Amino acid sequence: MTIPAGLADRFASLYGVPPVGVWSAPGRANLIGEHTDYNNGYVLPFAIDDRTWCAAGPNNVGLLRVASTAQTSRHSVAIADLEHAVFEGWSGYALGVAWALHTMGHDLSSAPGIDLLIDSTVPLGAGLSSSAALESAVAMALNDLWELRLTPMELAKVGQRAENGAIGAPTGVMDQVASLFGREDHAVLLDCASLRTTAVPLRLGASGLSLLVLDSKVKHAHADGGYASRRQACERGARELGVPFLRDLTVAQLDQAQSLLDDETFRRVRHVVTENARVLTTVEALATSGPGAIGDLLLASHASMRDDFEISVPEIDTAVETAMAAGAVGARLTGGGFGGSAVALVPTDRVRRLSDAVRTACSERGFAVPEIRTVNPSQGARRDK
Ligand code: GLA
Repeated sequence: MTIPAGLADRFASLYGVPPVGVWSAPGRANLIGEHTDYNNGYVLPFAIDDRTWCAAGPNNVGLLRVASTAQTSRHSVAIADLEHAVFEGWSGYALGVAWALHTMGHDLSSAPGIDLLIDSTVPLGAGLSSSAALESAVAMALNDLWELRLTPMELAKVGQRAENGAIGAPTGVMDQVASLFGREDHAVLLDCASLRTTAVPLRLGASGLSLLVLDSKVKHAHADGGYASRRQACERGARELGVPFLRDLTVAQLDQAQSLLDDETFRRVRHVVTENARVLTTVEALATSGPGAIGDLLLASHASMRDDFEISVPEIDTAVETAMAAGAVGARLTGGGFGGSAVALVPTDRVRRLSDAVRTACSERGFAVPEIRTVNPSQGARRDK
């Protein structure tokens, strides 16, 4: 995807000078590994081809100012006053990145003001990490313009800090890592304990398969209660089982865990422990047999999220079941849950028929008609100009 036409001109008409550069970062879908990141486990997301762009340049008024082609409100914060900044609405995802840098100990006292103009094709609230795309694009721009020399992993943590502290969503680091480390036709295996990333080839084209994202149109927000309550259940489970993180448990230890935990906490724990194992099995299956071999793992992941972690919704279950009946290799809820999107691995020659079937099934049940797009695993954040 190329820089949106007219972005530099709009920047110039807003701020009086052209931008010195344009940076971009993609949204993400997660192939498998859900609610495992904050349990120090494994995730396997990929960057999608929808991106968020950030045109940026310095100003001499000591302000970080942000505008967006999609929003009427414009926001700013004095760099000298980041400590006490309060962020309104969407601006926290952009200005919150500077706040995060400040709270993580980066000295911004002599940093010049920066003007930002945002444009994006990542749909909002669809479970495709529009927020991480925005944070990562802004983090890339500030890193270059303020000459901070942070690594991509450090930038991912800055984005996560913005999300946790400026927005108040207690999320893990998966989305920012996917947005920063994505590669064409690859997924990103992240071990959230060591923060080691490995690019995992998907070979979709060679396998005659496509990845679809089925947006249920059920909006979700991770600053709401459901995400946080799942996280608390995981932390409670780890505490009661005497391990630092659920990552430290194996599937073989689940029987014993069941005798120690209440039923609900046990099912939350079982999801995370089995999901971590499924991520590793998926990586093996991709390497040995290719994407056609991971369908059962995707389906098992969906069932675990639906029954044990209880984060699916009827709209997403319908999309997954209909996609399977129409010939998908595998399908599952992707992202934090409580709405958002499903991801489906589909023989390319069935994409159209399957998409029609899912739209029909959803509307017959009185649900919103899902928006369905083919997503191509894409390159992560970069400077475009
Ligand atoms: C959201 C969060 C991620 C991750 C997923 C669930 O996308 O931002 O950190 O926890 O939910 O896997």
